[in-house]
This record gives sequence, structure tokens and C-alpha cells, in this order.
Amino acid sequence: MKFFLDTANLDAIRRAVELGMCDGVTTNPTLIAQEMKKHDHLISEIAKIVKGPISVEGDTDTCDGIVKEAKIFKTWAPNVVVKVPMTHEGLKAVRILEKEGIHTNVTLIFSPSQALLAAKAGASYVSPFVGRLDDVSEDGMQLVRDILQIYRNYGFKTQVIVASIRNPNHVVEAAKAGADIATVPADVFAKMWNHPLTDKGLDLFLEDWKKVPKPAPKGGKGKGK
Ligand code: E4P
Repeated sequence: MKFFLDTANLDAIRRAVELGMCDGVTTNPTLIAQEMKKHDHLISEIAKIVKGPISVEGDTDTCDGIVKEAKIFKTWAPNVVVKVPMTHEGLKAVRILEKEGIHTNVTLIFSPSQALLAAKAGASYVSPFVGRLDDVSEDGMQLVRDILQIYRNYGFKTQVIVASIRNPNHVVEAAKAGADIATVPADVFAKMWNHPLTDKGLDLFLEDWKKVPKPAPKGGKGKGK
């Protein structure tokens, strides 16, 4: 399973890359706005750190506009993947861009039928938003399972990026379902390795180390009991 980081924050990305846990990055207008930097500059900076796919979203909604914008994004970094909205115009743009070798990530997927259409259009990735579905009392992870079943039935190559992740359990459930990728916000990523019993266990072991007689220093007599 691949981990993408769902952030445009350079420090958070650096930390995950250092750990060897960042296979890619997803951004959106909200995440870009939080960084208060120019869009092109920020994406180029991310691309210096991340070798995997970097999803970049634009602000146009017509097929022509999306295609034009996608070509500009590709000049920012070669590993840019263009986020395309799940609309009629978006699907038209996906077909054109993929034919030209520009990878697309169809975003704002909330139903299996949308994911089926995106795969038929040739999208490289789809992003089902699990957290936003859970927020309105729907079952986000069931959507992921449905999409994976449909894609397996027909051998679609489109990869499923589980998006709008709110907690570590979403990542675990995505892994259990067999999703290709989870795109994880930095704060959720940090929570994935935290456990109070791990901290408590480490404190206890450190205390117990203090009770163990120290080895004699080389060439001298030890004071061990
Ligand atoms: C995915 O590509 C989106 O950037 C993201 O996962 C949306 O998450 P949110 O619902 O927390 O805004």
C-alpha cells in the first residue's frame, strides 16, 4: 500500500520523506491557501522533495480550461498529476489528458457510479472522500470497497486513493479493503505511530534500566552490585 501525504506543508512533507513513508502528495485549493505561497512556487518546492506523484488542482471547470491548465501544471514539475473534478466536462478532459500522457486524479468521488465513469474515461487515479461521507452519516469505507470490487471485476487499472481521511482507523480500513493508496493528513500520520501503552512501556523499561548494574569501565574495576 502506498502512503501519500495530503498536505502542501513543506516541513510535514520533509518529515515523512525522511521516514521513507511518503510515496506521493495530494494538494487541493484549501491546502494550498493554508501555506500562503504562490501555487507554482509551492508545487516546484514539493517536487524537489517528493519523487512520486503530486496531485495538483486548478480553478477551471470547462474541458478546455482544465486541459490548458493541466499543461501549465506539467511545466512546474514532471511528476505532477492533474486533479480533475468529477463532472461531465471533467471526464471529457480526463480522456484528452490521458491520451496525451498526462496522468489524472478524478477528485470529489462520492458514489461507485462516479468511480466507474472515471475509470471508463481512463483516469489514472480516483479519490473517494471517505471522511466527508462519514460526516453526513454515510459509510465512506463502503464506497471504497464497492469501487475496488468494480475495478477488480473488470480489471480497470485506475488506482484508488482513499481521501478525506480523518483518523488512523480510516488508513487501516483502507488497507484492509485493499486500496492502492491512502492520502493521509500530517496530523493523522503522526497519530498512526502514537500509542499510550508504547509510551508507558518505554518509560517503564527506562526506569528498569537504571536498576541494572553498570558494566565495569574498560581497564578499571566496576562498582556493580
Ligand atoms: C484529497 O485529495 C483531498 O485533498 C482531501 O483528502 C480532502 O480532505 P478533507 O475532506 O479533509 O478536506
